[in-house]
Amino acid sequence: MERTPISDTQVEIYSQPARRFHWWTVALILVQIPLGLYMAYRGNVLGIFDDITNNLYSSHKLIGIIIFLVVLARLAYRLLHGAPADEPTLAWWHKAASHFNHWGLYLLLLATPIAGYIGISQYPALSIFGIPLPGIVAADQDAASRTFMIHFWLAFLLVAFVAMHIGAALYHYVIRKDNVVTRMLPSLRRS
Ligand code: HEM
Repeated sequence: MERTPISDTQVEIYSQPARRFHWWTVALILVQIPLGLYMAYRGNVLGIFDDITNNLYSSHKLIGIIIFLVVLARLAYRLLHGAPADEPTLAWWHKAASHFNHWGLYLLLLATPIAGYIGISQYPALSIFGIPLPGIVAADQDAASRTFMIHFWLAFLLVAFVAMHIGAALYHYVIRKDNVVTRMLPSLRRS
């Protein structure tokens, strides 16, 4: 089956700000997850706490805070401006699964950095490249270990949701050949 060509006038596409928010989030998450895994391995497993590990931790905290702010802004934009209507050819369960995946991603993209910030408040490890940060809960090392475990499992769930998201995108693009993916592409270079 050939992909039906679309233009901005034929089928609703995501607005430019929505597409920018989407691809910025992708880029930040692509850096953040391997960075988090590597720094925790270097610190907790290899037991190396040198300048490199410290800088990795600071970078992870900084990027995590940026992700939180970008996702908050993105969610506000989404709630204020809405999103294009579902692709007309989709079955009801396709639509339900995609809404579940999208709202789950928003939730996890907010909950994961919040858990990280609560963890560094409890530990406490409240600085980024030497610049102090405000704590949001009382210091408590035992609670910090539990919170970092929650942070890890939220990040794990986030990866699972991202994998579902990419799997669905490939299914639409390669197998169904509909316009679900093309309307979120960063440029207007469409089929
Ligand atoms: C969407 C945003 C974020 C993602 C996807 C993410 C992901 C991760 C991952 C995958 C790990 C490795 C866990 C492990 O192997 O044990 C980790 C560890 C960590 N994260 Fe995040 N993180 C995010 C935001 C944040 C924020 C905002 C902070 C704090 C400001 C933070 C602080 C930490 C710390 C301190 C650790 C190390 C925990 C430990 O040593 O046990 N993270 N993160």
